[in-house]
Parts: sequence; structure tokens; C-alpha cells
Amino acid sequence: MPHKILTLAASNNAHSINRALVEHAAQVLKSEFLQDAEIDTLDINDFEMPIYRADREQNDGIPEAAQAFYDRITAADALMIFFPEHNGTYSAAYKNLFDWASRIKMAIYQDKPAVFLAASPGGRGAAKVLEFAVTTAPFFWAKVVGSMSVGKFGEAFDKDTGMLSGSEHADALNAALSALAHTLQGQDSLAAA
Ligand SMILES: Cc1cc2nc3c(=O)[nH]c(=O)nc-3n(C[C@H](O)[C@H](O)[C@H](O)COP(=O)(O)O)c2cc1C
Repeated sequence: MPHKILTLAASNNAHSINRALVEHAAQVLKSEFLQDAEIDTLDINDFEMPIYRADREQNDGIPEAAQAFYDRITAADALMIFFPEHNGTYSAAYKNLFDWASRIKMAIYQDKPAVFLAASPGGRGAAKVLEFAVTTAPFFWAKVVGSMSVGKFGEAFDKDTGMLSGSEHADALNAALSALAHTLQGQDSLAAA
């Protein structure tokens, strides 16, 4: 059975650096670690909703887009989420989607193995949002098996080739993706035993 990998850049910017990294990581995962990966790339702009409000939920219920997002996670075997850092935390676009989806179930990530990544143009590599996402993941039932961040994205990522240029970043990405592939293969072995 192919493995379905949901990828998401938690940025609503059409020119997002995290989106560029999604494409690269998906390609590396498929070519180096998990040849049968089926990549489902989610566009956060397809899930834009009014800002969460408790009285809005009471009056109108949970928007269909939140359920659609939750269902895409249900259909996935594993997750790769790429976080931009806005003032030390999630983008407003992702926070709103996350808040609505959490009203379906707080276990948003549904016990899926996950790799969390983050990219920033500055040197700190969106470390704060990545740390927040990783440390809070258990509350939302994500099994984070690897994480990495890319700072100074303009230097670290070669726009022409669409690849990370330095071996340090490439090694960190490979370690995270390899951990994800091993987790999925381990689950297959257990299921077959
Ligand atoms: C409102 C706002 C807040 C930001 N705050 C941070 C920040 O706290 N740390 C950081 O490294 N970059 C920050 N940035 C710069 C982002 O890292 C940069 O816009 C990056 O390209 C976002 O990722 P994306 O291109 O995938 O959307 C901020 C940008 C915006 C628009």
C-alpha cells in the first residue's frame, strides 16, 4: 500500500519560502526514503474561514472547511508541516484554521507521525514557532519524529535548483525524513506480524 503524506505550508503567502521547502522536502522524501509516498499537498488558502468566535460557532456551527482540513489529516498516513514564524508564533492563517479544527477534536493530528519544519529569512530559523509546535504537539496528538529549521533562507536555499545548498541543512532534512520513513515502515511491519 502506498503511504499518503500530507504536506502543508502553514503560510498563506503565495510566495512563501516554506512552500518552496515543502516541494523540495516532498521530492527528497520520495526519491531517497519512501519511493511509494503519495504526496497530498494542501493549500492553506483553500481553508480560509472567518476568525474563530465562540458565539459564531454557537450560531453557525463549525465551517465545512475546518471539517475538510480535519478529514485530509484523517486520510493521511503521516504529516509534514512547515511553519512560518509570525511574531514568535503561528501565522494568523494557521492559528485560525487550527482553532476551528480543534473544535472538532482537540486531537487534531490524530496520532499521525509527523515532521515539523520551519524556515525564515533571518538567522534564527523560526526557532520559536518550531519549538512551540514541537513541544505542544502531544496535546494535539501528533507524534513528531523529526524536526529541523532553516535560517537565512535566501542563502540556504538555491532558488534555481529548488534545493537546499548547504550539507548541514541537507543532512538535517535527511535525518527528519528518514525518521518519518522508518516510522511508517515500522508500523507496516507491526501490522503484518
Ligand atoms: C507579521 C509578521 C511577523 C513576523 N515575525 C517574525 C518572527 O517573529 N520571526 C522571524 O524569524 N520572522 C518573522 N517574520 C518574517 C517571516 O519569517 C517571513 O515573512 C517569512 O518569509 C515567513 O514565511 P513564509 O514566506 O513561508 O510565509 C514576520 C513576518 C510578518 C509578516
